[in-house]
Amino acid sequence: MEEWCVSMPKIELHAHLNGSIRLTTLLELAKALTENQKGAVNISQVEHVIMKHDLSLTEVFQLFDLIHNVITDHNTVTRITKEVIEDFASDNVVYLELRTTPKRNDSIGMSKRSYVDAVMEGLRSVSSVDVDFIPNTQDSTSLSNLPIITNENSRKIIIVRLILSIDRRETTEAAMETVKLALEMRHLGVVGIDLSGNPKTGEWTTYLPALKFAREQGLSVTLHCGEIRNSKEIKNMLEFHPQRIGHACFFEDEHWIKLKSSKIPVEICLTSNIRTFSVASIEVHHFACLYKAKHPLVLCTDDTGVFSTRLSKEYKLAANSFGLGRWEMLELSRNAVEYIFADNGVKNDLRIFFNSVANNMEV
Ligand code: IMP
Ligand code: ZN
Repeated sequence: MEEWCVSMPKIELHAHLNGSIRLTTLLELAKALTENQKGAVNISQVEHVIMKHDLSLTEVFQLFDLIHNVITDHNTVTRITKEVIEDFASDNVVYLELRTTPKRNDSIGMSKRSYVDAVMEGLRSVSSVDVDFIPNTQDSTSLSNLPIITNENSRKIIIVRLILSIDRRETTEAAMETVKLALEMRHLGVVGIDLSGNPKTGEWTTYLPALKFAREQGLSVTLHCGEIRNSKEIKNMLEFHPQRIGHACFFEDEHWIKLKSSKIPVEICLTSNIRTFSVASIEVHHFACLYKAKHPLVLCTDDTGVFSTRLSKEYKLAANSFGLGRWEMLELSRNAVEYIFADNGVKNDLRIFFNSVANNMEV
């Protein structure tokens, strides 16, 4: 089962770039800070937090602050992006929507644009696998070059698209800047907008003008929704009808009814939800109920670094906890093709690709 979870092709739709940092890289970067830079970071604290297994939601956001303190320049952003892509590809993720919050840091001459350019540079610098990240005018991807399913000897291909995140600490204007940047960079593979950040911070309505503008301009929108108990926000978010939502942990009956009738796909992050105590245990996770109801779902990692996970581990956890077999897992992965934000050319190539994998499996 474990082997199958790794080898089957997978789709990842909810992964935060900096949360997916390799922990070895994080420690290396923290230790390499100059005395000046160290001012903000206490290395022993970094080590302690990184090694801690169960982080509360509050501690998770403290860790993000540490990570952001360590990622101090464009080159580091590029390096982390490269490593994250390599890690997802080695786990046989064939399509990845990577999200990140564009950051401005005047002291080092970093603008939101230059930050995303550094991410692009990371995509370009991967050499161990083929990375398809620029939308193709011919409406097809490098996957269409694969005559049959990949085998151990064929060179790996990963399609990557970007989602730009708005952090709940930002202002309406800063959020609008991110949406405009996403529009400017569409031809470079930016496909959507995400609202994330500490759910205990800010009001999501601050970002409504930017989110509405994104939608009017044809960008897809995904919202972190129901990470804490906030009935009104959950209700209003569902009424906004984003293309997808992430988590859906603290839903009440009226929210489930609304969600199910809306058919909004849910990005499920099992380990993240358990580790942050957003769901009491895997046995009571809402995956089971949504899966049974055939609600659109996709298994995702959230933050592979912070939560020490991989997408194959999430599939294995789902298989062990909810009794899914190899075929059900492949179907789960294949269904996710319908919820991706990339264009129909990519969708078609992925459909053909998954069909060939499924056919091969039946033989
Ligand atoms: P970045 O956007 O690449 O810097 O990735 C880290 C950021 O993603 C964090 O600072 C948060 O804003 C966001 N993020 C990561 N995990 C979560 C989560 O579980 N809930 C809400 N926001 C998150
Ligand atoms: Zn998330």
